[in-house]
Amino acid sequence: MPSISNLALAGLLAAGQGASASLIGAIQLEKFIKQETPVALQGILDNIGPNGVKVPGAGRGLVIASPSKSNPDYFFTWTRDAALTFRTLIDDFLFGNKALEPLINDYIYGQARLQTVSNPSGTLLPNGAGLGEPKYMADGSRYNGNWGRPQRDGPPLRAISLIQYSNYLVSKGQTVRVRDVIWPIIANDLAYVGQYWNSTGFDLWEEVNGASFFTTQAQYRSLVEGATLAKALGLPCTACSEAPQVLCFLQSYWNGKFVTANFIQGSHNRGGVDANTVLGPLVAFDPAAPCDSPTLQPCHPRMLANFKNFVDTFRDPALYPINKGTPQNKGIALGRYPEDTYFNGNPWYLITLGSAEYLYAAIASWEKSGGITITSTSLPFFKDLYPLARVGTFGKLHPAYYIIKGLVKTYADSFVAVSQKYTPKNGMMAEQFLKVEPFTPISAANLTWSFASFVGMNHRRQGHLPASWVPKGVTLPSTCAGSSVKGTYAPATQAGAPNVTIPCISNVLFQLNASTYYGENLYVVGNSPTLGNWDLETAYPLMSSNYTAERPLWYATIPLEMEEGVSTLRYKYARQQDCGQEWIVEEEERVLEVPACVKDGSEEVLAERDEAFEGPGGSSGGC
Ligand code: NOJ
Ligand code: NOJ
Repeated sequence: MPSISNLALAGLLAAGQGASASLIGAIQLEKFIKQETPVALQGILDNIGPNGVKVPGAGRGLVIASPSKSNPDYFFTWTRDAALTFRTLIDDFLFGNKALEPLINDYIYGQARLQTVSNPSGTLLPNGAGLGEPKYMADGSRYNGNWGRPQRDGPPLRAISLIQYSNYLVSKGQTVRVRDVIWPIIANDLAYVGQYWNSTGFDLWEEVNGASFFTTQAQYRSLVEGATLAKALGLPCTACSEAPQVLCFLQSYWNGKFVTANFIQGSHNRGGVDANTVLGPLVAFDPAAPCDSPTLQPCHPRMLANFKNFVDTFRDPALYPINKGTPQNKGIALGRYPEDTYFNGNPWYLITLGSAEYLYAAIASWEKSGGITITSTSLPFFKDLYPLARVGTFGKLHPAYYIIKGLVKTYADSFVAVSQKYTPKNGMMAEQFLKVEPFTPISAANLTWSFASFVGMNHRRQGHLPASWVPKGVTLPSTCAGSSVKGTYAPATQAGAPNVTIPCISNVLFQLNASTYYGENLYVVGNSPTLGNWDLETAYPLMSSNYTAERPLWYATIPLEMEEGVSTLRYKYARQQDCGQEWIVEEEERVLEVPACVKDGSEEVLAERDEAFEGPGGSSGGC
């Protein structure tokens, strides 16, 4: 590692900054990182059940996205956030924080159970569809609300994290534990990837339906690593044979200039520039993979061109006033994608820090491979930092290697410095910070993923690297095929999952006449887990897509699952008001003899209801 003063010198040479100013900045940055590291780690632990102090009520091993319960309500566990958080916690464990092992075991337990929870995406048995559910209630029960589902990144991300820990156990001779306890969870997730990688789903931002670079990249890694682990355990992995096709598909996101983040179904207002393409390579990072590997590592010339294109998009002061006047060789505040309107579209901590991590990862790859190769594709990225850069290969003996490496490190640090600047004194990181004055934190407070991104960034910054996973000499099939392997699924009972069987389901169409104002919503609640077991928070939402003034129709075809031995459904309709006012719930219980259920996954509607809301209408709270 070059010393701080060397870096300052390199910065001086290339950018003409005052050396003393960069030295002071560098010292302050080190101080910030030192202070923030324990705060961020504790921030993560505080949000994990059952003992996390900020998330009372959270289930064992369940990672709550944020303690925030309103505006926005993030008091749920997302499979993606949880897997990415544990990727970093397992890294921290492997790098020496042995105290984390009980928590990792809680995660295993929690995920084994979640896999079996029937939900609006489906069930574990017989077809694995339930694994695509993006989020669950904090206690691990199903979430019935409308949502962008399924999301297909959850299973591969979870598999990657569990494999990371399993590989460690195998290296310690604990093969039996891996095979009997953890592998069954991983096997379900891999089966899901093999079966559905070529089916559409929602992106990691839960907004667009289609195919997503981030998801595809995670899917590929999971299948490759899954195959390696299966082999070590002496077990088959049928789904893993899909890996070459997924890798083939991964190449198609490159459009000649940058990586198009999503192939989107339906109309949309997206240009394709998206942080998804910067976060994906962090998940796929293998410091030993060559930079031209089709796995698209952070140091790949196309990915560097893409990185520059992504960052430059946010340099526009009309888009992000916060970045106004920042020179081209300095880090800026970064958000999800330029068209974002969520909380008006602001920079995110995890993306700004993720971009720093991205650059540290690229540096690590150059160090391992013994040089930097600049191609015409990546040249503009390098020229921003080092105007004298030119196409060529610069080995470790070449002075340009050290100059460029130092400049990229300084560039990476400058993204961390941006997050430093906008993190409050107490170190608490929300999801976003305002792109306009006063640049203060906004949206979910204490976001677990923000804290995890800090810890993960710092691992790479300190040179703590993940294990290698890319097979040597991996090549692409000559033609891509959108294939699929039908999976088999089973509850991971030895890890703590209940021994579920194929659920028995009766599809019932509920149709309700209820005049509503804009912002009011209708639900069914009742004595079935599908209807929230009388809990309004998990009641089943009706849709208003066929609502007219003449026929104010709310409806849903609900796949009812009844408690063992119960065949009479008792239910009520409930109006949810727009500003958190009391719900308006019908007084009288309604009754339905539930038609005999079927186990074949058929969508046939077995009964219909056509009813009218009994009781008062709602009124807007005017919020
Ligand atoms: C809309 C946001 O854009 C999306 O990313 C988020 O997950 C949901 N709302 C829920 O908060
Ligand atoms: C919104 C983000 O878009 C999504 O990626 C995340 O899973 C949830 N918030 C929870 O943090």
